[in-house]
Amino acid sequence: MKNEMLHNLIPLNHTKVAEGDTLLTLFFQNDKKEIPSNSQSQTEIQDLIKNGVFSGTAKTTSFIRASYIDQLNILVAGLGVKSDSTPEIARQTGAFVYNKITAEKVNELGIDVDALVKSAGKELASVTLGAFLEGFYLASYSFDKYKSVQKPAGKLKLVSLVSNDKKNDGWIKNLIEKTLITADCTFLTRDFSNEPSNIGTPTYYANTIAKIAKQYGIKCKIMGDAECKKEKMNLFLCVGEGSAQESKVVILEYTPKAAAKSAKTISLVGKGVTFDSGGISIKPSMKMEDMKHDMTGAATMLGATLMAARLGSKNKIVTLLGFAENMPGQNAVQPGNIITTRSGKTVEIINTDAEGRLVLADVLHLAQDYNPEVIVDSATLTGACTVALGKLASALFSNDSKLADQILDASEQTEEHLWELPLWDEYYEDIKSNYADMMNSANDGAGGTIRGAIFLKQFIKEGQKWAHVDLANRAYDQGYLPYNPRKGSSGVYVRTFAEFVMNYR
Ligand code: BES
Ligand code: ZN
Ligand code: ZN
Repeated sequence: MKNEMLHNLIPLNHTKVAEGDTLLTLFFQNDKKEIPSNSQSQTEIQDLIKNGVFSGTAKTTSFIRASYIDQLNILVAGLGVKSDSTPEIARQTGAFVYNKITAEKVNELGIDVDALVKSAGKELASVTLGAFLEGFYLASYSFDKYKSVQKPAGKLKLVSLVSNDKKNDGWIKNLIEKTLITADCTFLTRDFSNEPSNIGTPTYYANTIAKIAKQYGIKCKIMGDAECKKEKMNLFLCVGEGSAQESKVVILEYTPKAAAKSAKTISLVGKGVTFDSGGISIKPSMKMEDMKHDMTGAATMLGATLMAARLGSKNKIVTLLGFAENMPGQNAVQPGNIITTRSGKTVEIINTDAEGRLVLADVLHLAQDYNPEVIVDSATLTGACTVALGKLASALFSNDSKLADQILDASEQTEEHLWELPLWDEYYEDIKSNYADMMNSANDGAGGTIRGAIFLKQFIKEGQKWAHVDLANRAYDQGYLPYNPRKGSSGVYVRTFAEFVMNYR
């Protein structure tokens, strides 16, 4: 849910934070007591240090409530040793500070920008503050619209970046804008992913996206069953045959204002399985409720598209999202069925639970009609992804090493880890079919994540640069990072894909 105070992040440029407010100083380990711009902060932080309560260790906070009416509450947060500092430390510190001020019921928070600049210099200060704010706002997310009694709203009404130096105005404004767009787009991805599938149907997502696209001047086309049939997208359609819900493909086209000749077209593609019961190859009931998140690839690409568009990407973006519900039913596709795909290649369905690749194969094929320079897809494709990589990094595949590097560069910038796995054609042997060109899964579970990727590769034409990210292991329940919700969607890789689009040359 959108947080109310989100829109109140404004630079106030006042010399003094109003009485009763809280002033935050971000403090590197071994910073001097003169660093805080405010004399009360200087004294109180000095006392904390003297008493061994606070030393600037990374991710620690201390709060001192004002004892007099005309004093400020003092909050100090540690960023660790300056030479070891990373944006991720600041990002996590931002999340801890958010939790702290919520617990302390702070009304208004001022952040001492001048102190940070004095300590770190403008460059490091702006990177640190940007990451700090990102973590702070990302941590403010909650999904509680279905609670009959809402949690009492936090008291925080205003967050101000406080500086007495006019020279800071420009970069502070940019930072604020980027932070609010990042949070807004990540929250949209999280909201979509968390939506239960009785509300979050393909039609719901398609219609909601159409409204949002209109708001930002992005072209939106929706294809239903009839249009998909006309496009011979039988593999995509077979996933939704057992469901009462109509499948939808949503196509978004963002064109930058005054597009330069050098503008490239990037296609983003996402798996949008609104509920994955497994179909006829039905899943065990344990944790089946998590399969409402099986449209997170689509939600991620939507968030990234909006983020890049709102940040003024110079590149064109064509985003194709394939929404379908995978259910057992009278008309459901069955193991042994053979389907002719949009590409003309044939697929023998071995396991109806390997449905994400069926959605993506036809949608990836359609994406190539737009002549994109590169295509990047993301999907909660395989449980094997968690076996291979645990929770820290999702799997990246690409048929082009430069493209892989560009995506890895973006992920280094955002500090959302990705790890490349091989896409050697020899793996294709594993999924060749006796009766059709290929099977949608093999009979043993070896290399499941790679097999998913190698299946998708069969639908990429010669010379088309393409990358695939299997984010099944990181889509939800990523609370080990303090800026993620403990339960539910993480919104991971929205920032990375947006960064990739922004930087692509
Ligand atoms: N949606 C699942 C993958 C998944 C599993 C996502 C756990 C998030 C958490 C996907 O459609 C699936 O069921 N894949 C099968 C493939 C297998 C049948 C080849 C899997 O991973 O078991
Ligand atoms: Zn499945
Ligand atoms: Zn699935």
